[in-house]
Amino acid sequence: MSIHKEQKRITTNTILEMKQNGEKIAMLTAYDYSMAKMLDEAGVDVLLVGDSASNVMAGHETTLPITLDQMIYHAQSVVRAAKRSLVVVDLPFGSYQGNTKRALDSSIRIMKESGAHAVKLEGGSEVTDSIRRILTAGIPVMGHLGLTPQSIYKFGTYAVRAKEEAEAIKLRSDALLLEKAGCFSLVLEKIPAILAEEVSKSLHIPTIGIGAGKGTDGQVLVSHDMLGINHEFNPRFLRRYANLHEIIQEAVQHYTRDVKENKFPSDTEQY
Ligand code: KIV
Repeated sequence: MSIHKEQKRITTNTILEMKQNGEKIAMLTAYDYSMAKMLDEAGVDVLLVGDSASNVMAGHETTLPITLDQMIYHAQSVVRAAKRSLVVVDLPFGSYQGNTKRALDSSIRIMKESGAHAVKLEGGSEVTDSIRRILTAGIPVMGHLGLTPQSIYKFGTYAVRAKEEAEAIKLRSDALLLEKAGCFSLVLEKIPAILAEEVSKSLHIPTIGIGAGKGTDGQVLVSHDMLGINHEFNPRFLRRYANLHEIIQEAVQHYTRDVKENKFPSDTEQY
């Protein structure tokens, strides 16, 4: 008999209940098996296979180049590790915009080939038809408003969005549209805290903020940023919980020195 206690999987219902119970939701990005295993075991609620993999994993300047095949590869690795967390996968740029059939096909490929639990896409009124079509296949959808990085060339800047009233009005109305279309949750990225709190209170579904203050129902950060692996990105909203860049650099310098001085391996580290 196994003494291993089965972990209860977080579902889209669990995170809705968290909002209803006033429990905040913790989401982090993950792109590979080893990191996803650590984050899952540490108790994070949601693992987002973000298209930020384009920046973090592949070194691209934007999220636009990453492909659906590449997202599926990352998602497969994360799903193999996640025993408790809900796994949400970004639909990459070009896999859903302006074509509801393509949006459905891309979502089905992600769910079928990776075993993930939900998809995420960016935008408001422009994508509600796609959301409704994806939902016809029983695939849960997370929305994403505010600074939506796939539209970076429209914005021209990574600055805070919806500071002007016209954009704030559209964001409020998009949030309601996404909820009505059937999204189970909504990411709010880099918008004024007061607006994020107002939108969160106006919705039944949970909001998850990044650079949107403490009034959202949960928070998300890019794990490589919050762990200090990437030490070159320093926006105001980012809190670093570790400095792994320094720890890894020191360990690698130490190893290299040991090899060059013939101190590694020792007599006990050989056969
Ligand atoms: O791709 C990503 O990492 C994201 C988060 C920043 C929300 O979409």
